[in-house]
Amino acid sequence: KRSEKESLYLVNEFANRYFQDQLWKSEEGKNIGLSYFKERGFTEETIKKFQLGYSPNEYEAFTKAAQKEQYSLEFLVKSGVTKESNGRTTDRFRGRVMFPILSHTGRVLGFGGRTLMKDAKIAKYLNSPESEIYHKSKTLYGIFQAKNELSKQDNCLLVEGYTDVISLNQAGVKNVVASSGTSLTKDQIVLIKRYTKNVTILYDGDSAGIKASLRGIDMILEEGLNVQVLLFPDGEDPDSFAKKVSSTELTDYIKEEKQDFLRFKAALLLKEAGSNPLEKSKAARDIVESIAVIPDALQRNAYIQECAHVLQMQERILFTELAQVMKNVA
Ligand code: CTP
Ligand code: MN
Ligand code: MN
Ligand code: MN
Ligand code: MN
Repeated sequence: KRSEKESLYLVNEFANRYFQDQLWKSEEGKNIGLSYFKERGFTEETIKKFQLGYSPNEYEAFTKAAQKEQYSLEFLVKSGVTKESNGRTTDRFRGRVMFPILSHTGRVLGFGGRTLMKDAKIAKYLNSPESEIYHKSKTLYGIFQAKNELSKQDNCLLVEGYTDVISLNQAGVKNVVASSGTSLTKDQIVLIKRYTKNVTILYDGDSAGIKASLRGIDMILEEGLNVQVLLFPDGEDPDSFAKKVSSTELTDYIKEEKQDFLRFKAALLLKEAGSNPLEKSKAARDIVESIAVIPDALQRNAYIQECAHVLQMQERILFTELAQVMKNVA
């Protein structure tokens, strides 16, 4: 008897084929789903590479099709592609464009489905619920397509969303994965670490994106990885930016605008501090707190020296502060 996990994978793989068939072959899928992707500028090659699909806007079209192929309702519900409420089972994803979430080996863990309605009342993305095979916090969207590039380029670009991964890919930037939302987890960083020790954060250019970058920096440093940050103009995310510029302009922007975490934090915090000395000392402490989480002592030292230089403060003072901060957390 096959394992429960294997049954969940098989259900998801059926669903993935089904949603792709709908996108490419059904009238509704072609008119609504495929044209949506094309309006966003995705090529057919890109749509196929990321196995994008479409879920018909019906109550149980998918569930019925799966049952007809002998997939049991038990596993359809457990994988989350079918939803059970008040003793009734319906398709979870209806009238959405579908983004399968693949493991590093290419197995289908779950789905993200984007609504096509502009209505702000419903969630833009609906994701598969947690299951025995899908743990959102341990997953990086795009890892299957990116993993070879992460090693080859020895760098991982980290973005927020599904479409950021896809658009950067289409523009030729392929070492990219998404944390799928803004709260990066330790497990996601550990997954990146299998391929490279260098991470570049490319979050959305809004205040949520900046906050998330600051949180992400410390988490990445704590795992002993190097972290750089690239901010997009306010209101832009990697997807929208990639659509506005040529692919050379995009790669140049990434190369030229990415900053080491220390310079990123210093620029951000000093701008807020202005010429207020108290605020400047707060900024210094904040940066030292990030340096304190770096596991490697030589790297900590090098960053303190850099920090002294950037903030125009004495190394000695910053080393004292570092020792204090490290004593407090120990
Ligand atoms: N997200 C989610 N559920 C939501 C909103 C967002 O799971 N209700 C996740 C998705 O993985 C999404 C990412 O957070 O891709 C980033 O969100 P956002 O920036 O709002 O969406 P975009 O990826 O930019 O999507 P689009 O360009 O299609 O609007
Ligand atoms: Mn594995
Ligand atoms: Mn956002
Ligand atoms: Mn976004
Ligand atoms: Mn977007």
